[in-house]
Amino acid sequence: MTGFTGYVALFLIMNISYSLETANTVNPCCYFPCQHKGVCVRFELTKYECDCTRTGYYGVNCTIPVLWTRVYEFLRPSPGFAHYILTRFKWFWDLINATFIRDTIVRLVLTVRSNLIPSPPTYNSLYGYVSWEAYANVSYFTRVLPPIPDDCPTPMGTKGKPQLPDARLLTETFLKREKFIPDPQGTNLLFAFFAQHFTHQFFKTYGKMGRGFTKGLGHGVDLSHVYGDNLERQHMLRLFIDGKLKYQIINGSMYPPTVAQAPVYMIYPDNVPKEKQYAMGQEVFGLLPGLMMFATIWLREHNRVCDILKKEHPTWDDEQLFQTTRLILIGETIKIVIEDYVQHLSGYYLKLKFDPELLFGVQFQYRNRIAVEFNQLYHWHPLMPDTFHIMEDEYDYSNFVYNTSILTSYGVSALVGSFTRQAAGKIGGGKNTHPKLLNVAVGIIEESRKLRLQPFNEYRKRFNLKAYKSFKDLTGEEIVSKQLESLYGDIEALEFYPGLLLEKTHPNSIFGESMIEIGAPFSLKGLMGNPICSPEYWKPSTFGGETGFNIVKTASIEKLVCLNVKQCPFVAFHVPDLQNEDTRAPNTKQSEEL
Ligand SMILES: *[C@@H]1O[C@H](CO)[C@@H](O)[C@H](O)[C@H]1NC(C)=O
Ligand SMILES: *[C@@H]1O[C@H](CO)[C@@H](O)[C@H](O)[C@H]1NC(C)=O
Ligand SMILES: *[C@@H]1O[C@H](CO)[C@@H](O)[C@H](O)[C@H]1NC(C)=O
Ligand SMILES: *[C@@H]1O[C@H](CO)[C@@H](O)[C@H](O)[C@H]1NC(C)=O
Ligand SMILES: *[C@@H]1O[C@H](CO)[C@@H](O)[C@H](O)[C@H]1NC(C)=O
Repeated sequence: MTGFTGYVALFLIMNISYSLETANTVNPCCYFPCQHKGVCVRFELTKYECDCTRTGYYGVNCTIPVLWTRVYEFLRPSPGFAHYILTRFKWFWDLINATFIRDTIVRLVLTVRSNLIPSPPTYNSLYGYVSWEAYANVSYFTRVLPPIPDDCPTPMGTKGKPQLPDARLLTETFLKREKFIPDPQGTNLLFAFFAQHFTHQFFKTYGKMGRGFTKGLGHGVDLSHVYGDNLERQHMLRLFIDGKLKYQIINGSMYPPTVAQAPVYMIYPDNVPKEKQYAMGQEVFGLLPGLMMFATIWLREHNRVCDILKKEHPTWDDEQLFQTTRLILIGETIKIVIEDYVQHLSGYYLKLKFDPELLFGVQFQYRNRIAVEFNQLYHWHPLMPDTFHIMEDEYDYSNFVYNTSILTSYGVSALVGSFTRQAAGKIGGGKNTHPKLLNVAVGIIEESRKLRLQPFNEYRKRFNLKAYKSFKDLTGEEIVSKQLESLYGDIEALEFYPGLLLEKTHPNSIFGESMIEIGAPFSLKGLMGNPICSPEYWKPSTFGGETGFNIVKTASIEKLVCLNVKQCPFVAFHVPDLQNEDTRAPNTKQSEEL
């Protein structure tokens, strides 16, 4: 009897293991077989098809180029070569700048970059296929590549180890700062705070709703960090007189109102008294004096522009003055981000230009959706220094964070001057994240796992870059690459954020190729995809006439600061070099008295 049941049991086990094996057939899309933006669709159990429509390639995996693709590929300079040319030969670019060729090249840069971003958007973290829900539900961040299917043999698809390396171990080993490494491009803290302030209008992860959601429904440059991300909040922040925002006067200058004056939800620790809590568009901006400083600058700018408009349009009501001023400030922001911020970051000698008319003759969609990948890559915490220098004083994190008295005790001008002079950290290359900020990096890596972000190499290929063949190919050295190899097992299993930060940097540059080639398309699409850049909007009347239009067309970071402070400091997104410092010392007649 026992022998018989034993035999039956054995048979059953064999049978079960056999059928398990069939059920375990790997989802073929886990191999990421479709190249060149081909779309993987699973059929039956083990079959798949790559949809190569309009990719310029054909074949099972979209690997065979059609003739014109061959020609185009042959003529197209590699991203590395283009970067090399754009960041050298200053004399050549100075010549180009004076000609119409500048417009042609800027147009080319804008279109080539923007075309890499699907528009209308396609996937999100719940939908790895095109769907109406993914299109219509703007509470999701979108994403460029669909999530790794849930039923893959390894966390990163089919490559790498059955378990990913511990996120804390990764950050401790590769990202933690030992000694501050300044950015070789001379980026300063003013840039760092501008970046943080600017991006938090559209990076508003909404954990309460679930994974991959955002509270920033404007999906771009909507200035919700100045005006609030919903109408109720905006109304709390508004004065309802002459289009202006609420404010308070301290020491003879304009500052944001307190939360008692403008009762909006703000995040402050309990030990910050209510009369010291500023109310701003973005609920997290109480965190750092640098963010409160930019909130103050934009508040002053808003009310300044309201005065200018009111003078020209005495009949306009509060609402029209407010709405038109908001559009002007959106325009100023885009102008400053392209011509000062991106210009500095790119290191290009080509003079960038914010001119929406450059795109009027080409196909371009005036819309944008913020992507999870853009949010992930924009975690530039290595910018943050070890301590903060303001005038003669030095602050460490514990007395800088949530310290709301710093803003008014120094004033905007002294803060801008101090942050301009202090160097920010280099972002790429690893080992430059302050230990206090390491948790943020752990969070990014853990989020990318929950959202099942595809491997770094898949993103390289999606953005027209060659996949790295080895970890040594990635880092360009021996030690870190060996460590990475032993942790990940396979370069095809390397994750997105570690890949971006540990890639070898361009010579004397703030980061490597992937951060630029993947980040710039998201950035430029987000800026130029704004409705104010469309032919219907981009005209004087939108901005209340030529005066407002000119405020947009001539905006700069220097003007933004200096038209709103009594004493104009040296303002730039890079630390001053000696030559500049000589000619721009505070007591020379540079200051623009108000
Ligand atoms: C297509 O890709 C799959 C998965 O990477 C591979 O196994 C297969 O050989 C490829 N087929 C062709 C025709 O290239
Ligand atoms: C480039 O040209 C613009 C006008 O087209 C001019 O305002 C600017 O100063 C020039 N920049 C350089 C670096 O030559
Ligand atoms: C968007 O999707 C989430 C999750 O399914 C849902 O809770 C939310 O109500 C949706 N939003 C809209 C406007 O339908
Ligand atoms: C906040 O900054 C002020 C200077 O404005 C300084 O005196 C004070 O010690 C700081 N507060 C804390 C809690 O560190
Ligand atoms: C006003 O300015 C002075 C000197 O700049 C400063 O010491 C003081 O703390 C400021 N007042 C407030 C309320 O911050």
